[in-house]
This record gives sequence, structure tokens and C-alpha cells, in this order.
Amino acid sequence: MCGIVGYLGNKNAVPVILKGLKRLEYRGYDSAGIAVLNGGLQVAKCKGKVADLKKLTDKDLHEATIGIGHTRWATHGKPNDVNAHPHTSNSGDLTLIHNGIIENYDSIKEALIKRGYRFDSETDTEVLVNLIEDVQKSENTTLAKALQIALNQVIGAYAIAVISSNNPNQIVVAKKGSPLVVGIGEGEYFIASDATPFLEFTKSAVYLEDDEMAVINRGEDLEVLSIKDNRTIDPYVHQLEMDLESIEKGGYDHFMLKEIYEQPKSIRDTLRGRLLPNEGLVKMDGVYQFQEKFVTAQRIIIIGCGTSWHAGLVAEYLFEDLARIPVEVEYASEFRYRNPVITEKDVVIAVSQSGETADTLAAIKLAKEKGATIFGVCNVVGSSIARETHAGAYTHAGPEIGVASTKAFTAQVAVLALIALKIAHKKGVLKESYYHQLLAELDDIPNKIERMLESDAQSKYISGLFKDARNFLYLGRGYNFPVALEGALKLKEISYIHAEGYPAAEMKHGPIALIDEDMPVVVIAPKGGQYEKVVSNIQEVKARNGKVIAIVSEGDSEIAKTADHVIEVEDTLEEFSPLLTTIPLQLLSYHIAVMRGANVDQPRNLAKSVTVE
Ligand code: F6R
Repeated sequence: MCGIVGYLGNKNAVPVILKGLKRLEYRGYDSAGIAVLNGGLQVAKCKGKVADLKKLTDKDLHEATIGIGHTRWATHGKPNDVNAHPHTSNSGDLTLIHNGIIENYDSIKEALIKRGYRFDSETDTEVLVNLIEDVQKSENTTLAKALQIALNQVIGAYAIAVISSNNPNQIVVAKKGSPLVVGIGEGEYFIASDATPFLEFTKSAVYLEDDEMAVINRGEDLEVLSIKDNRTIDPYVHQLEMDLESIEKGGYDHFMLKEIYEQPKSIRDTLRGRLLPNEGLVKMDGVYQFQEKFVTAQRIIIIGCGTSWHAGLVAEYLFEDLARIPVEVEYASEFRYRNPVITEKDVVIAVSQSGETADTLAAIKLAKEKGATIFGVCNVVGSSIARETHAGAYTHAGPEIGVASTKAFTAQVAVLALIALKIAHKKGVLKESYYHQLLAELDDIPNKIERMLESDAQSKYISGLFKDARNFLYLGRGYNFPVALEGALKLKEISYIHAEGYPAAEMKHGPIALIDEDMPVVVIAPKGGQYEKVVSNIQEVKARNGKVIAIVSEGDSEIAKTADHVIEVEDTLEEFSPLLTTIPLQLLSYHIAVMRGANVDQPRNLAKSVTVE
């Protein structure tokens, strides 16, 4: 969490950094700060958003050609002006921004206090900047060397940037466990948590690996070093393919809405070149490479968090149904701490939009140590998870900026469906004619979503009726049970209404007690699967005066008779119905949140990329 930005070049660093921070606000937005060097150090920081910081900088900050900035998601110390980054060392020389957590900061702080240091904030970051200062003084060495020595004493995760008031021509950065990318322009350097802050200036980028640091000197080549042994590393310069348009709102009120509407495109982009229905083929290099591992896997373990975990749950149905491979889906955070039994015959699929989720990353490392083959499904190219896995397949959803995940989810389901189809075909466990039918249907899914998105009038109307509800229940069975979970998650995270997702049949084992006339129940009930049983579940809700909003296949007149409201989705094969039924649930939560006046793209307490445990 937290976003960091830095600039060293000929432009005025202040607007470059502020705009960059705005782009990184999805990573945290409880406080923000900036430090520049211009004949001396100037710092502006405050509780609140980048917009609040901008008001301060307009007043207080002069032009400068070097600076660093930070947007925070609090871990140590509550959001306030003092805890906001950057933090400056006691002498006033060093100033630092940090994304991550220094786990042993307490013991370091104690030792520094004994040596006369004082601390104003409650942060681990202020401890780190003073540790570097202490090392630099006692070793009488350069900033880069002091940083390297200090980091070898630190346990935890970090992406940091440090500047010295005595040197307006240098930024030193380091990375372990949190992302950090250096943009290389004409006579200028950028640093950031991802490439979006500098996309309009340069497409050349160096992604630092864990345990690497970089010394950025004005007018000189980038120097990358190993933190552990000071070895010089030849940086690999990526040429980015992302464009500016993809990270802007493009006329929509919110990124979330834009991203919901982008789904036909993002699924098409994800299927392009991989799904070849006319040739009866699924082509995926990453899977092909490990095809035998998949085919002979005694089990597939899917790990992820939040929405990505929900995509994993859909994949459980797909892999078991189509490819006949046993699947376990695990929260990465539970998996990593429960001494799981993993063997070399297991294939682990890690699902992550950001590719930076700390729990997923740690779970991957654990499974890898135990000899499993690790396959990644990530959206962010070059992310830590993408690099940590043996092979993988990217979702080509494009940058997802709204904190609530929408297009990444459907793209993940699309990729996982492709893998299941490929393996099922290779294993020969699917009837050939059905395999071809599945390929053709998957190919048609983006067209169906496109038609469904032509009008959101019904979901908007229903949102208006239920926007003041205090609780919601979401029910689904089979392939649509994970959709119920996802629908409930979307609602709670952006509208702050309590919502629970349940397998429809489980309702009578407890949640049915909650149902009364004030309880809206969203039932995902497309044709196929256990349709008749879901119809009975709807009747059970109605018998207790609950209000039913049903997601049904087009033309379903049976449920329309019982439910209070219906939203129709196009017909599809049951295997792909989550790709369609998810859409009205995204819209429902979006409209309810907007009507409640909530900040849709930046819901309270959340951050897009959870890089802490
Ligand atoms: C929900 C949401 C989160 C993420 C979760 C995992 O809308 O966005 O639940 O899905 O934090 O993030 P990734 O997929 O980046 O690993």
C-alpha cells in the first residue's frame, strides 16, 4: 500500500510529483506529502488526499528540479499530519518516503533513542531515516553506502526513496517486497510504485527486483546495486506498452464505471490470440510449457485474496467440471500460515490483479519451497507475483484503477476458463462436440456483455429502491455461488452496507433467520444448474416477506412471478454464466454507492494493492 513518486531532471518537480501521486492514490489516500530541494529542504504534508496536499503546495512550495512524494495508507500510526510522509532525520539532512513495513522498528527505535535520537511521529519510517543517518555519521560514508548498511539491519518490506539536503543532484532508492520502478527520460529520472506517474514522459522503465537499490545522479547513468553484497547489476530497460488513455477516466464519472463498461474489450483482449474457436484450439504458451504438470497434477491449489479468490472459486468449478482435476481454493493469508501439505505433484495457481498482494506472494514462496509448480494469473505486467511464478498467463484487462475490482475479475475468470479448457482437451476428458461448443460460447461472451451494458436502467431503478437498506443477502448455487460472494463484497466495500454472500441452499441453515420485509435478497438464478432448487429458495425468502431481486436468464417468466424485481442476463452455457451474472451486481453496487454519496473509486479504509500482511 502507499504510493511513492520521485523526480530528478529539468522540469519543476512539484506538479510532476503531485500528478503522479494523484495517479497512485488508488494505493492509499489517507495522507499525502512532498519534499523538494531548492537551495534547502522544503516539505509539505498533511492528513487527507492529494487534492489537500495541492492546496498546501500552492501556498508553500517553490519550484525545484528534484523531489519525492508519498500518498499513504496507514499501518503504523493513525493518519495525521505528523505521521504523513516524507520523514526527515534529526539533523534535517535526510528525507525519506516509504511503502512497506519495517517489522523490527521497535528495537531499532529503542537503540536510536539511547543514542540521543528523538521521534515526532509513530511511524516505522521515521525510525528508518534516522537509522540511515546514524549509520552515515558513524561510518562517515556516502548516503548510498549508509542506506545499504542500514537496510541490512532491517527486517520487513520497503520501497523507499531518500534525498539529502546537501545534494540536490541525487535520489537513492531501494526495494524489497514493495514495488519500485525507475522511469528513464531524456536527462531526467522518475521513480514510482508503478509506471503510471511517468507514462506521459517516458516509456523506458527499469523495474527493481527485491534486494536491489539504485543510485540516481543528475546527468549520469542509472546505477543499480545489490543491497546484500554491493554487486553492480546491469539494469534491464523495459519498453512499456501502456498508453495514457487507459489510465484516465475518459468521460465516465468514476473509474469503476469506466472499468465496468470496458469489460467487453478487456475480455476480448484477454482471449485474443489464445481462443481460436474455428481451429478448435486454445493457445497459451505458459500453459503449454507446463502442460504435462497440469495434466498429471494430483491436485490444483488456487490461491488469492478478495475478488481474486472469488475468481479462483469459479475456476474450481471449471477445472473439476471440465478437466476433472481436484481443486482446492485457499485464501493466501490462511494457506501461508497453516503448514499446508504440498507435493511436487501439485500445481498452484496464484491469482492476483496487482501481482503485489503480500499474502499471495508469501504463499507462492512457501509452495515453491515445497516443490510445487507455480502458475500466475496476474494483470500487472512485470509485477512481483508475475516474476515469482514458474509460468503464467496475463489477464489483459488494462490498468484497473477503481479500488473495487470489476474488469480484472471477469478477465481472471476468462483466463482460468481458457486454462481449464486447454487442459481438459489435452486430457481428452471432454466430449469433442461440447469442447467446440464451449470455445464458441466463450468467444461470444464479450458480445453478450456489450449488449447487456446497452442499458443499466433496471439496475439503477432497483438501486434507488434499496439504497437505504442496512443489510443485503446474496444467494447463488454452483457456478453462481462465487458470484454471490463477489456481489456482496462489491456492495460492502463501496457503499458500506453490510452484505453477505451464501450458497443458496445454506440459507436454511442459519441466515434465513435474518429474513424479514427489510432484507433485500439478491438471488442469482440463471437457467441451468440447479435452477429449480434456486426457485424454491426464492419462494422460501418470499414466504418470510423478504424482498427478492433476481438475476435471471432473459425471458424467464417463472421467477418474474415470484421475485419483486428481476434483472435479465443473456443466455449462456452454465460454465460461463458468472461472466454475465456478475455485471448487474457490479452496476447495482455502483449505483447504490453513488446514490449514498460514497467515494466509489476510493472507498474508506481500503487500498488497491495490499502490500502488507
Ligand atoms: C475487491 C478487491 C480486493 C482484491 C484483493 C486482492 O474489489 O479489489 O478484494 O481483489 O485485495 O488483490 P489482488 O488481486 O491485486 O491480489
